[in-house]
Amino acid sequence: MQKISDELRREKKTIGFVPTMGYIHEGHLSLIDVSNRNSDITVASIFVNPTQFGAGEDYREYPRDIEMDKMLLKKRRCSFLFYPDVDAMYSKYFKTEVYVKDLSRFLCGIRRKTHFKGVTTVVAKLFNIVKPDIAVFGQKDAQQAIIIKRMVEDLNYNTKVIIAPIIREKDGLAMSSRNVYLTKGERKDATVIYNSLKETEHMIENGVRNVSIIVRRIREMISSKKSARIDYIKTVETKDLKPVNEIKGEVLIAVACYFVKARLIDNIIVKV
Ligand code: PAJ
Repeated sequence: MQKISDELRREKKTIGFVPTMGYIHEGHLSLIDVSNRNSDITVASIFVNPTQFGAGEDYREYPRDIEMDKMLLKKRRCSFLFYPDVDAMYSKYFKTEVYVKDLSRFLCGIRRKTHFKGVTTVVAKLFNIVKPDIAVFGQKDAQQAIIIKRMVEDLNYNTKVIIAPIIREKDGLAMSSRNVYLTKGERKDATVIYNSLKETEHMIENGVRNVSIIVRRIREMISSKKSARIDYIKTVETKDLKPVNEIKGEVLIAVACYFVKARLIDNIIVKV
């Protein structure tokens, strides 16, 4: 992959990069489109990265379908697919980690303590392998996007990070490879996440600014579904994930929720 990237760069082609863990869906493919619009050549990676899964999480069960993924990526004009195996990425001598302080501890970092360290370590490696001019990440994983941007600036990566909007199913559920874990009933209940976020958007449009009122309403709506168990509901600043007590300026409203096996996340950004 490094040789291919060097060759592309010699040909003065700009490289766009979309890292993924595969089981490709329309959310991933929308990132390929953004990459194609912003670069000459798009490279995707598929690597179910073991270091970002905690003990007891779904590393083994994580859905995989490489042949289907290849087909979907090709159809969307992704030129190269990098899909290394675990031993190629992590030799038995592996010792180096990349950790973005503070930002990795909040929100999803509270329950998933080592998750973002795994993400930043693997993305740092992937950037050094693919050498992209631009890299596209989804707003779906808002905290991940913020952390990656921080890492790129702090470590002087010569890569521009673009954040692309959340792609949703018709009923509003944010697309995710993990949605396959949902039973029929849970899948129906899971629409409550986006519905509750939309509802807060309306509340804010109607002048509500008090965060506890907003969080209470989201909690109430999600709790009404039997299969849902809330992990967190947070209102934070979009730049540094610091909690806010009042909706002012640009605020990220982020929710994480368990449905027995599936842990789903979603968010909206509101501006007043
Ligand atoms: P994965 O969950 O496969 O997601 C790959 C990329 O697709 C991420 O940037 C994610 O935010 C984006 N994405 C997922 N669902 C989306 C949706 N519904 N709409 C828009 N974008 C969406 O995120 C990871 O993999 C990994 O942590 C990775 C960055 C590859 C590091 O291992």
